[in-house]
Amino acid sequence: MDRKLKFSLKTALIAAAVILMAFGIPATKALAGELVIYSGRHYVDAIMDEFTKQTGIKLTFHRGGTVELFNRMMAEGDRTPADLLITVDAGTLERARIAGALHPFTSDVINLAIPAKLRAPDNSWVGLTTRTRVIVYNPELVTQEEIDLLNSYSAVTLPQFKGRLGIRTGSNVYPQSHAAMMIAQRGEAYTLAWLKGLVRNAGDNIFPSDMRVVEAVAAGEVHLGLVNNYYVYRGLLDPKWNIPPTRLAYIVPEQATDQLGQAFNISGIAISAHSKNKENAVKFIEFLTGAAANADIAQGNHEYPANPAAAALPQMRPLIELRLSPVPLAVMARYMVPAIDLIDKAGYR
Ligand SMILES: [Fe+2]
Repeated sequence: MDRKLKFSLKTALIAAAVILMAFGIPATKALAGELVIYSGRHYVDAIMDEFTKQTGIKLTFHRGGTVELFNRMMAEGDRTPADLLITVDAGTLERARIAGALHPFTSDVINLAIPAKLRAPDNSWVGLTTRTRVIVYNPELVTQEEIDLLNSYSAVTLPQFKGRLGIRTGSNVYPQSHAAMMIAQRGEAYTLAWLKGLVRNAGDNIFPSDMRVVEAVAAGEVHLGLVNNYYVYRGLLDPKWNIPPTRLAYIVPEQATDQLGQAFNISGIAISAHSKNKENAVKFIEFLTGAAANADIAQGNHEYPANPAAAALPQMRPLIELRLSPVPLAVMARYMVPAIDLIDKAGYR
């Protein structure tokens, strides 16, 4: 490169940087044929490649924890490069919606594909997969009599399970959204008593991940635990874990008509209010919620597809057989802050 050209290129770059700074547009903002996605979940890459192949739209992922990415997007405000946000729970998405950070949209395709219970009423956020809360246990350490007793989330707080229960840290969105759903159904006093019972029975057996709870159950460190269903299937079906069913099984609690119904949540997706590529973002959500892609992303993580027309893994207990909590996720999300307060009050760290 000759010197003159080098100089003018440098000048042009400086000028561009000055203009970008003046207008507050980050250099990483997605171009027309690109979508930038803040993703708290990793889906199978082949599905994303298929979208690019079909549409020519390039996907750029920034991965991280759900709450971390939410905080980043909020801090960036209208300068965020994110076109879309993917999270592992509805509570965070609803917080983003209330803060005005999300773009509601109309799509007959999505309205038909995803049940109303699994998305915001205005599609500000849309469920991709469904996950349920189960009681995981070690069949060598829990008797049949005890299994019969464990038909509710409260049963794990019975005195006979003291020191035998494993739970995940209270700072995680999974126990938080579970408590939020319980508040919506039974109120704060009931939920606080339950949380205190969990803390009492778990003692020091509070683990940093659901998978660690599953591992501890299979290893006999604890006898039972509360986890998202797909971690049990990961333990049983993933060759990396290969845990035999003699050491790992689960109970679906709250199935009687006078009981709570199984607590559930979603991994979900939303369009940023500040995206410059909203039409393409809608296309991407329509693609992910379509029966083919939705089956692939759910099966890749042993979850249930949010689209009822998509197939779950054949080894999984069919979702249709389960009685889920009647609480819509948008309602559950309203109780996230009270749930976090109660978790704190219960001394659940
Ligand atoms: Fe998870």
